[in-house]
Amino acid sequence: MTTLSDEAQLHAFEARIARGDKVEPGDWMPDRYRQQLTRLIQQHANSELMGALPEGQWIPYAPGFKRKMALIAKVQDEVGHAQLLYMAAETLGKPRVEMIEELINGTSKYSNVFNYPCETWADIAMVGWLIDGAAIVNQTIMQTGSYGPYGRALKRITYEEAFHLKQGYDLVVTLATGTRAQRDMCQEAFNRWWWPTMMFFGPPDRQSVHTEVLQRWGVKPKTNDEQRQIWLQKFVPKIEELGLDIPDKGLHRDPDTGDYVITQPDWDEFFRVINGDGPMNRERLALRRLIYEEGSWLRTALEKRDLLPRAA
Ligand code: COA
Repeated sequence: MTTLSDEAQLHAFEARIARGDKVEPGDWMPDRYRQQLTRLIQQHANSELMGALPEGQWIPYAPGFKRKMALIAKVQDEVGHAQLLYMAAETLGKPRVEMIEELINGTSKYSNVFNYPCETWADIAMVGWLIDGAAIVNQTIMQTGSYGPYGRALKRITYEEAFHLKQGYDLVVTLATGTRAQRDMCQEAFNRWWWPTMMFFGPPDRQSVHTEVLQRWGVKPKTNDEQRQIWLQKFVPKIEELGLDIPDKGLHRDPDTGDYVITQPDWDEFFRVINGDGPMNRERLALRRLIYEEGSWLRTALEKRDLLPRAA
C-alpha cells in the first residue's frame, strides 16, 4: 500500500479546506492544526467554566424570583457549554483532566473579562448584554470554521447565548429606564465593562500571533479587529438608544468606510490580566481549585466504575 508523503497530505488537507469541507477527528491533520485547535478550544472551554463563577456568586442576591430563575438557568448553561467544548477538545486527543489541571494551575488561559469584579447587580446586566453579545458575534463566526466538532458545539451554544443576550438586554433596559439610582448604577457598570469588552476580541490584528495560521486553515474566518468591528456596528446604536454615555471619548466613525474607530484600550493591562495578574484572577482560580478539590470524591467514584469520560 502506498502512503502519501507529508507534503502531499498537507496539500490534500488544504485543498479540502479550500473546498469548505469539515475536518473530522479521525482525519489526517497537520500537528500544528491539532495543537492550535486544542489550544483555542481548551481556552474557550475554560472561559465558559470560569464565566459561571461571577454570575453564580450573584444568584443569592438576584432581585426577585424570576430574575433568580433566569440567572440560575444561565449559569447552568455556561457550565454545559464548558462540557460541550471540553468534549470537542478531547476529540483532538487531550484528556479533560489534563485541561482542567492546566486551568487551575494557571498554565492555560481563559477570557480576560472574567477577571474583573461584578460589583453590583448592574454588572450582571452588563455581562449578560455586552459579553454574551460579544460571544455571539465571535461564535457565529467561529462556527463556520473548518473543524467539525467545534463548529457543531458552537452552533448549539449560540442558541442558548441568544437567550442570555435577551436576559442581559432586559436587565439593562430595566435599569437604564428606571429610577435615577438605577440609571446611575447602570452607567457606572457600563463604564467598568466597556474597556474589557473592547479587549474581549483579542489584541489588534498587528499584535495577534495566531490569526495568520488560524486563517490559513479556516479555523478563524474573521480577524480580531473584524470581529470587534461587527460588535461595534451592532451595539453602539443600541447603547446610544438607551442613553448610555460611552466612556471612549475618541470613538467616531470613519467618514469613508463607516467603520467605528476606537481609542486603543490599555493593551498592557490586557496582557497583565490574561497572564494572571488582573483584579480577580487569584480569587477566581482559588474558587475553581476549591470546587475541583471538593469534587474529587465524585471523580474517584466514577473512575472506580470506569465511567470517567476518556479522550477519543
Ligand atoms: N482573553 C484571554 N486571552 C486572550 C484573549 C482574551 N479575550 N484574546 C486573546 N487572548 C490570548 C490568546 O489566547 C493568545 O494567547 P496564547 O498564545 O497563550 O494562546 C494571545 O492572547 C494572543 O492572541 P491572538 O494571537 O489574537 O489569539 P487567537 O488568534 O487565538 O484569537 C480569540 C483570540 C479569543 C479571538 C480566539 O482564540 C477565539 O475566537 N477563541 C474562541 C472564543 C473564546 O475563547 N471565547 C471566550 C469567551 S466565551
